[in-house]
Amino acid sequence: MRLLVVDHPLVSHKLTALRDERTASPEFRRLTEELVTLLAYEATRDVRVETTTVQTPVAEAEGVSLSRPRPLVVPILRAGLGMLEGMMRLMPTAEVGFLGMVRNEETLEASTYAERLPYDLSGRQCYVLDPMLATGGTLASALGFLTSRGADHITAVCLLAAPEGVKNLEEGVAGLDIPITVVTAALDERLNEKGYIVPGLGDAGDRLYG
Ligand code: PRP
Repeated sequence: MRLLVVDHPLVSHKLTALRDERTASPEFRRLTEELVTLLAYEATRDVRVETTTVQTPVAEAEGVSLSRPRPLVVPILRAGLGMLEGMMRLMPTAEVGFLGMVRNEETLEASTYAERLPYDLSGRQCYVLDPMLATGGTLASALGFLTSRGADHITAVCLLAAPEGVKNLEEGVAGLDIPITVVTAALDERLNEKGYIVPGLGDAGDRLYG
């Protein structure tokens, strides 16, 4: 598994505003979209393309278009939904599938309550959207599920990650024989006893939609 922490002043600037407890929901949603678009630029660096030619007003030009099958974007409900627009702005022709997952706040175990994905993901590149990589349980389970359907290349886009979660996820996906990348705006200090990222930004789902 590859971890990419995007080091860019605009990414840090927007993340700082998201962390600020005074940032209210409407502004939080707008900033999340903008930040995800910046992260998506890095996350899609290895999106598959094929060569094509177009006619310019002057001459024929060689270029590329997205390969088929189209990439699949998978926001993890609920909080991942706040990241969808930011991702689709950059890759509007991608297909979208949904996974609903919730973490039990006592045991910190993740469970799936909804799934709307193409049945066969063979040969598909998948982009999973989940703002927080805390214990890593949610992402490990989502990535295992997508791989079991045949996904052969997965990139997870997160706003924030905790070192403990990155380590757990690394162990959780060790047996999956496909390229996996996590792209995040920051690797924070640690998890607290409640499983929250420190310093983090609080509960992303609540700040987006609560
Ligand atoms: C949060 C967050 C991640 C998950 C991360 O979701 O959005 O999906 O927890 O935790 P983990 O890495 O420890 O598994 P939550 O369960 O609060 O659901 P929500 O998106 O509906 O708010």
